[in-house]
Amino acid sequence: MASEIIGVVGAGIMGRGIAQLFTQAGHTVRLHDSRDGAAGAAREFVLSMLDKLATKGAMSADDVRAAAGRLTAVAALEDLAGCTIVVEAIVEDLEAKRALFAALEGIVAEDCLLASNTSSLTVSAIAAGCRHPARVAGLHFFNPVPLMKLAEVIPGLLTAPAVTDRLLSLVTGTGHRAVRAADQPGFLVNHAGRALYTEGLRLLEEGVAPVADIDRALRDTLGFRMGPFELMDLTGLDVSGKVMQSIYEQFQQEPRYRPSTLIPPRLAAGLYGRKTGRGFYPYPEGVKQEPAEPPPPPAMPGTAWVQDGEGVDALRALLAAGGATLADDPAGADVLFTLPWGEDVTAVAVRTGLDARRLVGIDPLGGLAGRLVLMASPATDPALADKVHGWLAAAGRAVTRIQDSPGFIGQRVLAMIVNTGCEIAQRGIAVPPDIDAAVRLGLGYPSGPLEWGDRVGPAKVLAILERLLSVTGDPRYRPSPWLRRRALLGLSLRGE
Ligand SMILES: NC(=O)c1ccc[n+]([C@@H]2O[C@H](COP(=O)([O-])OP(=O)(O)OC[C@H]3O[C@@H](n4cnc5c(N)ncnc54)[C@H](O)[C@@H]3O)[C@@H](O)[C@H]2O)c1
Repeated sequence: MASEIIGVVGAGIMGRGIAQLFTQAGHTVRLHDSRDGAAGAAREFVLSMLDKLATKGAMSADDVRAAAGRLTAVAALEDLAGCTIVVEAIVEDLEAKRALFAALEGIVAEDCLLASNTSSLTVSAIAAGCRHPARVAGLHFFNPVPLMKLAEVIPGLLTAPAVTDRLLSLVTGTGHRAVRAADQPGFLVNHAGRALYTEGLRLLEEGVAPVADIDRALRDTLGFRMGPFELMDLTGLDVSGKVMQSIYEQFQQEPRYRPSTLIPPRLAAGLYGRKTGRGFYPYPEGVKQEPAEPPPPPAMPGTAWVQDGEGVDALRALLAAGGATLADDPAGADVLFTLPWGEDVTAVAVRTGLDARRLVGIDPLGGLAGRLVLMASPATDPALADKVHGWLAAAGRAVTRIQDSPGFIGQRVLAMIVNTGCEIAQRGIAVPPDIDAAVRLGLGYPSGPLEWGDRVGPAKVLAILERLLSVTGDPRYRPSPWLRRRALLGLSLRGE
């Protein structure tokens, strides 16, 4: 790919990362910041990062020297005159970005591309301040730029297709994955990320389980590196709360993205997370304190019957290993087990006529590998839940006990993630391979939403959502037409 002369305006966290990425990729980079000395300091920072790479053997000393020669800090905006592309990473303010692009239009050549690293502004609104909006597009990187190997290219409504294509190949040339996203709220990644936060908060609002149990269950059963509450504490609720509210409003109050009433009082109290020493968790001396799990009750003798369904053999084997006597008939058993998809224990008891006092649910998601999630209805005898916990612990399993919830914790969160991915595809915001790649690389999820949905089974995901919708009556759970049609027709969610 041809080497470009790239201007980077704004030498803060993002600007310096963008400058490093393009310099390393062989482009000439001119870095500018309106704050005196900021561009020079950012250049020094980038060179120190390249030196570190050389020390680790990831870059040769010659390459570092050559890169240093290609990266300059410039004092005046006018010094960007010869650039072929300018990327701005200044303050997130529409008027400031418009004023900058208007000024740049008086400096750079007519075929110079103007790209914005905005994370929340409408690209078309930034472009609308320009004489030539066709050359303006969004180019959204993630922090830290060299390590987060993804960038979203966002054409505004008036962006020329050639501009989008050039930015896509510019990103690809750096070794990052480029995805194309429509100029819609949150673009692709921040839109796809809504489900984990809002459904985590929903589970907490409903009293399904406390914060640490929800995070633990999502880490251990779905393979997230962090649960939603740990993530909010890391980002800071002042930031993530604002993003949640803004995307919800920009989507015309779409219930799927509705934030939680739990947030405003936490913001008022300053419980932002790590940065204030307390969020959903306390951080004495900066270290997260997660409440320990109570020791499991001892295994007691008793009889267990398991309703037929996916995972029945695995559960029976675990119960036997934990000391339970297996019964073939529910009539004589102390505890009745169900392995429901999208139903709570109450719904199973009502549908099947099984005795609600003796009935508990175990989440079949993930084939009962690892941590088990045990669910009880309001009618379940608490002593029985203790007994079950004792058996499963004696079989060597960690157990999370939750209140009745259609879809437990994991199924609900997963179904919402898949449904959001499906909505992104349905709205034409991005194509399936880009949706999956962006979620893996940009959000660090173990899987993209569409491939995850295909693995669990679109029909199962649809059933979870339909049951959630029927139990709660909340339109946030209505299935995306993308999901419904493909589930009903037996097609992959990744088909175009
Ligand atoms: N921090 C992130 O995680 C992240 C991720 C993706 C996108 N973004 C977006 O990237 C942009 C920059 O964010 P950041 O975190 O690097 O901010 P930052 O505050 O670290 O840096 C912004 C820099 O821009 C400079 N600046 C402000 N106005 C200027 C102007 N008119 N001309 C020249 N320089 C100017 C400031 O002096 C500062 O050095 C924002 O649009 C933000 O929304 C941030």
